[in-house]
Amino acid sequence: MKYLIDKLTSNGSLSKEEWCMLIDRRTSDTAEHLFENARKKREQYYGKDVYIRGLMEFTNYCRNDCLYCGIRKSNANVTRYRLTKEQILACCEAGYSLGFRTFVLQGGEDGYFTDDRMTEIISEIRRKFTDCAITLSMGERSRESYQRFFDAGANRYLLRHETYNYEHYSRLHPENLSAKNRQQCLWDLKEIGYQVGTGFMVGSPYQTTENLAEDMLFLQKLNPQMVGIGPFIPHHDTPFCDFHAGTLELTLFMLGLIRLLIPKVLLPATTALGTIAPNGRELGILAGANVVMPNLSPIDVRKNYTLYDNKICMGTEAAECIEDLTKRMESIGYKIVTVRGDSLNESLGTGHLSKRDRVNIN
Ligand code: 5AD
Repeated sequence: MKYLIDKLTSNGSLSKEEWCMLIDRRTSDTAEHLFENARKKREQYYGKDVYIRGLMEFTNYCRNDCLYCGIRKSNANVTRYRLTKEQILACCEAGYSLGFRTFVLQGGEDGYFTDDRMTEIISEIRRKFTDCAITLSMGERSRESYQRFFDAGANRYLLRHETYNYEHYSRLHPENLSAKNRQQCLWDLKEIGYQVGTGFMVGSPYQTTENLAEDMLFLQKLNPQMVGIGPFIPHHDTPFCDFHAGTLELTLFMLGLIRLLIPKVLLPATTALGTIAPNGRELGILAGANVVMPNLSPIDVRKNYTLYDNKICMGTEAAECIEDLTKRMESIGYKIVTVRGDSLNESLGTGHLSKRDRVNIN
């Protein structure tokens, strides 16, 4: 399978069959070869720098009932909370002093945060922190809402596609949600001018190798600035409580593949990865990742933002998390930097797909 990794490394395109082969027939040897190439690519563009993003979980109210997610609407065991504008700004203040230059506002799909309320919050962060990037991660909205948030000063948007395959998507989500709409949101965000992040869970229930191949082809087509992936981890209060978690090994392999597929992408070693293995995030960086996202949310609300079981850093102050991460990164020869860290993968819009990007997924 090394020849497929070499093909990817020299910017060659893989077919769906080739992606499947590469994933299915992987061995620890091919993985090592992959990670070496992925690290080389990453270092070519981003050196040994690791970017940090301050994550603020500003609401755990959610109108959706995704079968995997701990804060799904029908989980009555969650204590619901939302942060006030003042609390959000205080998190930004604290984060700024710690060196964060990107704030990620992540939350469930919460009707309380109307376009007016959101634009007010975004404008104020923009006014106070002119040198920072504002990233939103609050699910599906109308194109008009996305436009208003962008005009108010948001720069980036994270919306995982979760899985490209329509049928697989429908097994993970309630009937009112569709892969089609999710993907349309991503194209809209891109057209508006956001730096866009998407991604998927590794090892989600019913996921096949073919599904992962389709995810790779979708990433190639969308050509996003960021890709967030992490293992699926069951949450005890969801319909998927009895499914197995995704593995560290496959998640790392997928990280390496994504680095080679989109060399300039921003790729976080996610909290979920750090949750399934004590050194998961370090291994993620060594597989090609270049971002970590410490939690800036107030400690007293963190326990209520549990998308999956055993999430790490539940009671650790942001400053302490950074210290810990700094040591972890140093131990593997990388260093945390406090810059905005924009993606080097340019926003090309949809009309400028290179030949390599004009792929047929099905
Ligand atoms: N395990 C792992 N990741 C999860 N997410 C939601 N629930 C889980 C879970 N049980 C991920 C989804 C979502 C992101 C915010 O968190 O991919 O897009």
